[in-house]
Amino acid sequence: MERRPCYVIIPAGGSGSRMGGDVPKQMRDLCGRPVLRRTVELFASLPFNVGVIIAVSPSMRELWKQYCRRENFVFRHILVTGGLTRFHSVKNALDHVPDGASVAVHDAVRPLVSVDMLLSLFDLGMRYPAVVPVVEVPDSVRRISGSSSVTVDRAGLVTVQTPQVFHSEILKAAYCQPYDPAFTDDASVVERYGVPLHFTPGERTNIKLTFPSDIEFASRLLQAL
Ligand code: C5P
Repeated sequence: MERRPCYVIIPAGGSGSRMGGDVPKQMRDLCGRPVLRRTVELFASLPFNVGVIIAVSPSMRELWKQYCRRENFVFRHILVTGGLTRFHSVKNALDHVPDGASVAVHDAVRPLVSVDMLLSLFDLGMRYPAVVPVVEVPDSVRRISGSSSVTVDRAGLVTVQTPQVFHSEILKAAYCQPYDPAFTDDASVVERYGVPLHFTPGERTNIKLTFPSDIEFASRLLQAL
C-alpha cells in the first residue's frame, strides 16, 4: 500500500475562556515551554515528515510569532487565521491540505499524547478513512437537571480524544457541509457526511487542558512520564 503524505492541523484559535488568566491556554507555560510548542514538537519528532498547519486567532498569531522569534524556535509550518468556532478554524486550515493525504486534527491543548499513539494513529489512518481514539468512562455518570438527577448507563459510553486521522479528500468534502453546533469534533462532521468511523483506544493521560487545575495536573504527569 502506498503511504499517503501526512499532515496535522492544530486548531489553536480558541480564547480558552474556561481556563481564565491573561495568556491564552495554548501559550500557558507547561514545565518551561508553552503548551502549543509542546504539541507541535510531538509531531515534528515523528520519524516521517508531517506538514504542520496551525489555526490561530489574530492576537494569538502575534503572540506565537513573537515567541518563535524570541526563542529562536524555527520549524516549517503554516499559520492560518482561526474562525468563530473550532469547525471554522479547521475548515480554514484544510485549504492547505492536498487530496490523497492523511490528515490528523489535534487540539493544541492536548500536549501529552504519546509518540507511540501518534505512530499508531497515522498507521491506522493509512487503512481506514476516519480513525478516532476513545477511552472508556470509568466513573458513574449522572445527568443533573435542576434538583433532580438520573444515572446514565455507562455501558458503551466513551470519551473521544484527538488526534483523529482522516483521508484528506474525505475530511475536506465533509467540511463542505453547513456548520452545525453539534459538530464538536471532526469525527462528528465526517460521520454526518456518511463515513464510518474506526475507533481505537486512546490514552487516559492524553488530557485536554481546559480548567486552571489541568496545567498543574499536566505538569505532574509530564514529570512522571
Ligand atoms: O473550545 P475547545 O476546548 O473545544 O477547543 C478545542 C481546540 O479548538 C483548542 O485547541 C482551541 O484552541 C481550538 N479552537 C479553535 N478555534 C476556535 C475555538 C477553539 O481553533 N474558534
